[in-house]
Amino acid sequence: FDHNNPMASASKRFHGDSEKTSFRVLPAHRYTGRFPEYKQPVEVNSYSIDGDRRVWFDNRELKYYAKPQLTPATPSLSYNYDRFIQRDETIPEHIDTLLDALTDAKSKNEVDNHNTNADIITWRGIMTKLFATPFSRNEPWELRVTRHKGTIYIEEQQTEQKRISETSKNERQKIMSYWGYQFEAMCTTSEPNGDAPAVDETLEPPNTNVQYCVVVRTRLGNSSVIMGAEVDCIEGLKPGNGEGSPLKQYIELKTSRRIDVERQQISFEKYKLLKFWAQSFLVGVPRVICGFRDDDGVLSHLETIKTLEIPRQVRGKQNMWEPSACMNFTDQFLDWLKTVVTKDDPEVTYSVVWKEPWREISITCNGKKDTFLTQRYLDGKVS
Ligand code: A3P
Ligand code: MG
Ligand code: MG
Repeated sequence: FDHNNPMASASKRFHGDSEKTSFRVLPAHRYTGRFPEYKQPVEVNSYSIDGDRRVWFDNRELKYYAKPQLTPATPSLSYNYDRFIQRDETIPEHIDTLLDALTDAKSKNEVDNHNTNADIITWRGIMTKLFATPFSRNEPWELRVTRHKGTIYIEEQQTEQKRISETSKNERQKIMSYWGYQFEAMCTTSEPNGDAPAVDETLEPPNTNVQYCVVVRTRLGNSSVIMGAEVDCIEGLKPGNGEGSPLKQYIELKTSRRIDVERQQISFEKYKLLKFWAQSFLVGVPRVICGFRDDDGVLSHLETIKTLEIPRQVRGKQNMWEPSACMNFTDQFLDWLKTVVTKDDPEVTYSVVWKEPWREISITCNGKKDTFLTQRYLDGKVS
C-alpha cells in the first residue's frame, strides 16, 4: 500500500445508480519533497469586462500601476464605501467568459490550436484553492466538473451554505472586503505612466463589475492546464503579440494587517503568504504589492513582494506551508480527477466535494444536470 500514490487510497463504492468514488487528502508532509514540473505560464488571450458586464476582447479595462503617496491626510480605505458598486453575484456566470475567450483565441490563430487545448480548463481561483488544500482548515470547497473531448472543465459549485455565509456577512466584514477594492482604486489609473489618483471626491468608487482578465496555459506535472484569471494592473505598456510576455509586467495588489506583534507575523506568513504565493505563482505574475493597514483601514506603508521569493520566507518554519506539497497534491488530485470523470459528454456533470481536513474528497455523477458548457462554445461561436 503506497500512501504517496493517490490511486492506492482512492476507494470505490456504489450507491444504486450513482457511482461514488473518493480521494483521501493526506497530511501535508506526505506531499512534500520533489517538485512536479511547472511550465512557465503563457498568455493565450486577454479581455475586458465593462461596468455593464459586457465582454470586449481588448485592453480597455487594463489598469496601470501608480504608486500612491501616503500622507497623514490620506483617508482610510473605507473612503467611498457608500458609493461602492458591486456586481450582482446572484447571476451565475459559470466559466462563460473563459470559454468565449478560448473561442476568440481559436478564431485568431486557426493554424495552431495547441494553446487553446489542455487537460484541465478552469479559473485560477479554483487552482488556488486546490493548492491550499493540504494546509487548509476551515475552507471547504465544492466543484462542478464536466468532460468534453478529453478536456476536464471545472467551475465552482454554488451552494446554499456559501449563499448564506455571503448574505449573512456583518457590516465589519463587508467593509473589510471593501478595503481591497479601494486599495486597487488608489493604486491604479487608466493612463499609462499616470499619477496615482487623488483620494478625494474626484476618485471613481470601486466597481466590481469591471474586470481585466487573462487566459494562460501551463503544465503542472501530468496535466496541461488553462486558467482564466483577473489581473489587477500592469507596469509599463502591454507588449503586442510576439513582443514578449506581458505576464512579467502584471502586478497583484493586496491588503493585509500591519504587523505589530508576533502573532500577526505568524498569521501573515501562514495564511496570507500561502494565498499570495499560490494566486500569483499559478499564472506567472512576478510581483505582489501589499498595502499594510491598521484595524481602521488606514494604510501605513506598501511593500513589494516577489512571488518566487515567498517560499523562502517561510522555509523551515514550524507548522508552515510548503510549495512542493501544494503542487504535488494538486498534480495527484488532477490525475485522479481524470480517471473518475469518465463520461465524455458536455451535458453530464459531476460534483466534487471536500468538507474538512483529513477527510476524503468525494465525487458524484449528476447525470445530464447542471450542464455548464455553453452551446455557443460547443458551436465554436463567441456570441
Ligand atoms: P485583498 O486581498 O487585499 O483583501 P484580489 O486581491 O484577488 O485581486 O481581490 C481583490 C479584493 O477582493 C480583495 O482584496 C478583497 O477585498 C476582495 N476579495 C477577494 N476575494 C474575496 C473573498 N473570498 N471574500 C471576501 N473578499 C474578497
Ligand atoms: Mg484582483
Ligand atoms: Mg488583488
